[in-house]
Amino acid sequence: MDVELALRGGVIANADGVLTADVGIAGGKIVAVGDVGDARRSIDVSGLVLTPGGVDTHCHLDQVEPGMGYGAESLETGGRSALAGGTTTAVSFIAQFEGASIEEIFAETMRRAQRSLIDYSFHQIITNADDATIGAIPDLVQKGVRSLKVFLTYDDAHLSDREFLRVLAAARREGAMVCVHCENYDGIGWMTEQLLAQGMTAPKYHAWSRPKVLEREATYRAIALAELVDQPIQVFHVSCAEVAEEIGRAQSRGLKVWGETCPQYLVLSEDDMDRPGFEGAKYMCSPAPRRQEDAAGLWEMIGRGTIDVISSDHSAFNMTGVFSKDRHGTDASFDKIPNGVPGVGSRMPIVFSEGVSKGRISLEQFVALTAANPAKLYGLWPAKGQIAVGADADIVAWDPDRRVTITNDLLQHVVDYTPYEGMEVVGWPQMTWLRGALVMRDGVVSAEPGAGQFLARGPYEKATPRNVLANDFNPSCIAPGQP
Ligand code: URP
Ligand code: ZN
Ligand code: ZN
Ligand code: ZN
Repeated sequence: MDVELALRGGVIANADGVLTADVGIAGGKIVAVGDVGDARRSIDVSGLVLTPGGVDTHCHLDQVEPGMGYGAESLETGGRSALAGGTTTAVSFIAQFEGASIEEIFAETMRRAQRSLIDYSFHQIITNADDATIGAIPDLVQKGVRSLKVFLTYDDAHLSDREFLRVLAAARREGAMVCVHCENYDGIGWMTEQLLAQGMTAPKYHAWSRPKVLEREATYRAIALAELVDQPIQVFHVSCAEVAEEIGRAQSRGLKVWGETCPQYLVLSEDDMDRPGFEGAKYMCSPAPRRQEDAAGLWEMIGRGTIDVISSDHSAFNMTGVFSKDRHGTDASFDKIPNGVPGVGSRMPIVFSEGVSKGRISLEQFVALTAANPAKLYGLWPAKGQIAVGADADIVAWDPDRRVTITNDLLQHVVDYTPYEGMEVVGWPQMTWLRGALVMRDGVVSAEPGAGQFLARGPYEKATPRNVLANDFNPSCIAPGQP
């Protein structure tokens, strides 16, 4: 066997086990795991932990902001941060908005994505479930966009239950996954009105306006509607154990329902939004970070497997300047401040440190949560998410003992802040390979724009229905393959 590159003596961590061995790479693929004989080049990685490249199935990169062009972070700039932080694959979003067709937005997003530094795929956001949109879904799926994202809140994005059902039915026909932002739109609207009427406008009231109960209700409703249509779903950004419990109940009944959480719910809290002045805006995202003690509940749900994916939900706004949180001024009420926090580069180190280094999860669980499970859930497995013969040679070499204080510069994204500034982590990526090419070493990212490839996703098991319906009626519109 002609091995181009051998990584020798590392601790190889996969979701199903850890072993000390060599990895042989050729043609961008892993060709051997074990005792690799001769190789054209070798790198000694003893003392380091090798994990599969991170798979971040929820990040807003190169996503259109209606009326503003593209968001602050692209697959090029965010890709740089991703590689520095051990992530090699991202699933971003193709937006939908008035004034441009699904096809036009797809084409423009694909054009921009050609500069990506990491491998990428897309979820299609559906904010309008009209006939033209639903009619465009088969073509999108054929192009490899095999997942649909819906919002149950946000003024310009939320779907009614009826519209959501149409999207679920279309996904079932096409064999696509559906991911859902679960918060109750009218509940948040009513709370916001009440808070503003009482002069409670500061960033911390963002959290007050959208309490857990509104996330829990929408999560249960999303699950119920998905059950009605018999369509698999993933609940995005679960903020607390109470919400995860809804998912756990569905799973115990055999439903194909999965839950994702994000580092912001594990290490930030609503207290962060109560910092002086406009500072609190840095931590505003939706759902809102809960109380500090809620993190323990989420780790418990991660331990049980109820939540099996940790993504970043990287949604980047600068604090000032273009695409900024202060676009309506630093005195703006909380409902006028854009939601989202950056995190594509900090995700893996934070989960490694808070999870593995602090003894909350094993190395295997770390790989499952950050690479293997997201790859399986979104049809990127077996090429992504494992260090195994035949898989893409996307590999991260970690120094498990390295102590690092997170700064914005270290993360190398384009946004002007990180909510994790000053946080100490133990464990840091030393080297990252993307399909066999060393693209990051000691923080220096060497990938060129265009290094990343589009990942067209084909049919896969997790996205198929169970064939269990609510009663004897089998609506023809949900039959796989129906127009
Ligand atoms: O606040 C957030 N999460 N912003 C990004 C968009 C979304 O809801 O995922
Ligand atoms: Zn969301
Ligand atoms: Zn998001
Ligand atoms: Zn505005």
